[in-house]
Amino acid sequence: MADLTFFVEPGGALRGRLRVPGDKSISHRAIMFGALAEGVTTITGFLEGEDCLATLRAFRAMGVRVDGPEQGRVTVHGVGLHGLRAPDGPLDMGNSGTSMRLMSGILAGQAFDTVLTGDASLTRRPMRRVTEPLARMGARIETTETGSAPLRIHGGQRLTGIDYPLLVASAQVKSALLLAGLYAEGVTRVTEPAPTRDHTERMLEGFGYPLRRESERTVALTGGGSLTGTTIDVPADISSAAFFLVGASLAPGSDLVLEHVGVNPTRTGVIEILRLMGAQIEVLNPRLAGGEPVADLRVRHAPLHGIRIPEALVPLAIDEFPTLFIAAAGAEGVTVLTGAEELRVKESDRIQVMADGLNALGGAAGPTSDGIIIQGGALAGGTVHSHSDHRIAMSFAMAALRASGPITIRDCANVNTSFPGFVVLARNAGLSIQEQETP
Ligand code: S3P
Repeated sequence: MADLTFFVEPGGALRGRLRVPGDKSISHRAIMFGALAEGVTTITGFLEGEDCLATLRAFRAMGVRVDGPEQGRVTVHGVGLHGLRAPDGPLDMGNSGTSMRLMSGILAGQAFDTVLTGDASLTRRPMRRVTEPLARMGARIETTETGSAPLRIHGGQRLTGIDYPLLVASAQVKSALLLAGLYAEGVTRVTEPAPTRDHTERMLEGFGYPLRRESERTVALTGGGSLTGTTIDVPADISSAAFFLVGASLAPGSDLVLEHVGVNPTRTGVIEILRLMGAQIEVLNPRLAGGEPVADLRVRHAPLHGIRIPEALVPLAIDEFPTLFIAAAGAEGVTVLTGAEELRVKESDRIQVMADGLNALGGAAGPTSDGIIIQGGALAGGTVHSHSDHRIAMSFAMAALRASGPITIRDCANVNTSFPGFVVLARNAGLSIQEQETP
């Protein structure tokens, strides 16, 4: 397969106004809930990235009519909770952990069998965190011996609700169990060790499904209800905006406005962490769009300093650590992250891959079992490998704004999973980035 390489010249600044693509978590859920609803759901701002397209194709393969996407507009003709049909073959979830984990909750409640598979990264990731609690609800799901995909999900099982304390702070596991709970008899109650993104809860409410938020960390629902089609305006993804928040903070002369960004408080850890490091980020025009808070974010260059990252913020910034490590490398002093072992089982081992990349660029990063220690200072330039991880690739692209030499990033094709158009948008904002396919 051809590789995609980014070449980024050092220096420059980020200026102007831009809107990054739609939120990945919300786009996945909009397709899933729209498919399971009665009636039509109209989505605008849908993320046309490979991950969300994998979810869309899976529902088409199960008989759901989906029109679009066309310029972010998608119409889902819901079939109701019991209207899905057996697909002809395995459902390929590509690189997308969210698709696989959430869909295993939905598929556990169907009358037919399914197989879920994915790419080399996804088939290495841990799936027992969903299959074990689902089995306790009565689901029958086979994994490989190491607990990974392909997942063979046997339909026709009777599910019953559970009261389940999550072992890891994971919105994917919480969501999988709530989705299975729609098909279960009685109450499904999930308690998290720390708050995680609550898009599933908000969207279930938006589709008219009764939900009980019993405390900040406990949510419960009763099976047997139904969802009603609705309209969903997907905000821009704060996880994609994060690269620009870091780039603009690091590059002298930067002044950038990111429009219509989702600022759900379960997702804004990146803003809080950057502010603790000295960043100048303003939240402008806060408003609500379809049950989710959104705002415009203005970010200007500011000198950053190293910090000890509060562990309570880890789940609220879980996807933003690759780019936060770039901020730490460009800051004055030491940054210490702990309590983030989950980063080792994302699309890549984000602790090791980022440490290797930073050190290859002349930085000083020491991985630990559950985090990293980064000594801020100057970055030279050089070549890094993204290990097919979209967020690693985009993070190192932003590092060039503070490096003294050019940065080459290998294996960048997966940027399309979450951020189609990244190179053009970043170039228009002021990053000197080129991409080239290499055999
Ligand atoms: C997601 C939850 C997080 C996050 C992922 C998207 C979701 O995963 O890293 O990119 O949409 O629920 P975990 O639940 O594994 O932390």
